Amino acid sequence: MSLRSDFIWMDGALVPFDEANIHVLSHTLHYGLGVFEGIRAYAQTGGGGGGVFKLDSHLRRLYDSAKMCQIKIPFPIEQLHAACLETLRANKLDEGYIRPIVFFGMGAMGLGARGNPVHVAIATWRWGAYLGDDGAKNGIRAGTSSFTRHAVNSNLQRAKVIGHYVNSILARYEAADNGYDEAIMLDHNGYVAEGTGENLFAVRGRTIKTPTVTNILGGITRKTVIQILQHEGYEVIETQFGRDALYVADEVFMTGTAAEITPVREVDRRTVGEGVPGPITQLVQRIYLSGVRGEVDWMRPFITPV
Ligand SMILES: Cc1ncc(COP(=O)(O)O)c(C=O)c1O
Repeated sequence: MSLRSDFIWMDGALVPFDEANIHVLSHTLHYGLGVFEGIRAYAQTGGGGGGVFKLDSHLRRLYDSAKMCQIKIPFPIEQLHAACLETLRANKLDEGYIRPIVFFGMGAMGLGARGNPVHVAIATWRWGAYLGDDGAKNGIRAGTSSFTRHAVNSNLQRAKVIGHYVNSILARYEAADNGYDEAIMLDHNGYVAEGTGENLFAVRGRTIKTPTVTNILGGITRKTVIQILQHEGYEVIETQFGRDALYVADEVFMTGTAAEITPVREVDRRTVGEGVPGPITQLVQRIYLSGVRGEVDWMRPFITPV
């Protein structure tokens, strides 16, 4: 994956890639308060260029995340909407990842500092399967993390805050060091929460469960998957469950803008189902990946042309 592109949108205008720099004393760099998004654009089937999937939902979450953190984004949402599309076009991308980030620049230092300048940048790059092509096709191996997800009152877990991701990175490093592709994080009560950058679903028979959005990120892909399953006649139960439910599940899969739909074939060295992506996972994956490319009628309104 190369992050290099021609332009990055910064504070109201496109600037050449090498000029999109910040000062080392930027407040967010020191303390982690800032918010961001991860959005994907897909080349649309049958031509017609690229389309951004659920752009409005992602930008709404960006502004909500900022509001929760008392950060005032100095641009109206319509301007960032246009800027995401403008950046893709400037970088000649009809398919790729879009990363808007909102952060505090240099001004006052210290945890109580307020009124520092708020900066906004939007970068785009090509990003393939987040957990690898083989993982997307054949499933990944996941392990329960020794790191607990933030308790509901430790942070604003529904916001996509930069600093939250230290917890995720520690879990991801640990998972990799233990030979896993991804970590499954439990909450402070021991219930399954989410992956380090994905939500999670467990299937047993026709029962499909996903953790309730209390102390996890309310994933936009998670919501799309619930919509897909409902459309296909399945009910999704949003509830608490422990890792024991994963050990007896027929299918487990993770969802995220970056990870898309990633089957999980093993949890804590125990084979999930038959050890291959199950029929419901495959169904969801197939509909999701064709829907984001404009092939599914009812999903087409979620797509903004680039
Ligand atoms: C912690 C966490 N959970 C879940 C998700 C999935 O969210 P979405 O489907 O909106 O990308 C992400 C990715 O943004 C994430 O970082």
